[in-house]
Amino acid sequence: MIEVVNLTKTFKKVRAVDEVNLYIEPGEIVGLLGPNGAGKSTTIAIMSTLIQPTNGDVLLQHKSILKNPAALRNLLGVVPQEIALYDELTARENLEFFGNIHKIPRQKLKERIDKVLVQIGLENERKKPVKHYSGGMKRRLNIGVALLHEPEYLIMDEPTVGIDPQSRNYILETVKKLNKEANTAIIYTSHYMEEVEFLCDRIYIMDKGRIIAAGTKEEIKAILSSEKTIVLKLEKHSNTFVDALMKQGILSNIQVKEAHISFNVAKNTDFLPMLLPLCEEHNIVIKSFHVEEPTLEDVFLHLTGRALRN
Ligand SMILES: Nc1ncnc2c1ncn2[C@@H]1O[C@H](COP(=O)(O)OP(=O)(O)OP(=O)(O)O)[C@@H](O)[C@H]1O
Ligand SMILES: [Mg+2]
Repeated sequence: MIEVVNLTKTFKKVRAVDEVNLYIEPGEIVGLLGPNGAGKSTTIAIMSTLIQPTNGDVLLQHKSILKNPAALRNLLGVVPQEIALYDELTARENLEFFGNIHKIPRQKLKERIDKVLVQIGLENERKKPVKHYSGGMKRRLNIGVALLHEPEYLIMDEPTVGIDPQSRNYILETVKKLNKEANTAIIYTSHYMEEVEFLCDRIYIMDKGRIIAAGTKEEIKAILSSEKTIVLKLEKHSNTFVDALMKQGILSNIQVKEAHISFNVAKNTDFLPMLLPLCEEHNIVIKSFHVEEPTLEDVFLHLTGRALRN
């Protein structure tokens, strides 16, 4: 387990990281979600032992890594926010270069490079210099570099910024696969809430250097609401059906706009056994139906009064 304990980092007057506590256990995918300037990269830079904190500590198996950074470096891969590759070198040559920095023995490195090229889907592009790669391909190679030494923990700092949707999907799928097949624990940093919702078991929301919410997706969304909203579109409006709905004690905030009806129910209510017989009784045809739950974006807006993306 890696733990961040009361971590604080100040740059002159800026409190970039302010008493942050978080942890990651083996095999988990944890999201670190926050807008620009929230302090995500600074937190990561301290966790990856690149910079020293002003206060607080990072623990590996409950022992401080500040005095013994090598213990963590062997277990940890970091995908930096800025692409760090040599443009003139090919994918294979870049991987060789970074593998040598990790002091991976020659034969082992050869095997790892072949495996990593497949993992990041660049096996057919391995001979091209990186300067001829698309943004998405560079992002993938940037991830490959962090995987060479088979890290048990991987920290990814906004790995999908500025790339096409296809490459983004490829990266999201790669993250899921790595976690499933190699049981790699991943801290996934992003300001795209839909990515974090898709990937992560647990989420930390960060803003202005502080963790403002933490928990499972469900726990975080529960901050906002203990209800869900059901939206129905009927074939045609029916006063008697609306009256019948209103008589149901379990619904609240019923809103009717011609053939569109929405209402709230408590989150755990199974409302279909109530709804379907009512439809039958009143000859109602439902054309569409969906359940609206609060998004992480809604939670962020609720907590800060601002949108996540600026
Ligand atoms: N080396 C530095 N010197 C001075 N200020 C810094 C330095 N690094 C970061 N900061 C400041 O610390 C704050 C947090 O920055 P950080 O890069 O950690 O945010 P972030 O959440 O990663 O943002 P982004 O989503 O834009 O990458 C910002 O106000 C930033 O300007
Ligand atoms: Mg950053």
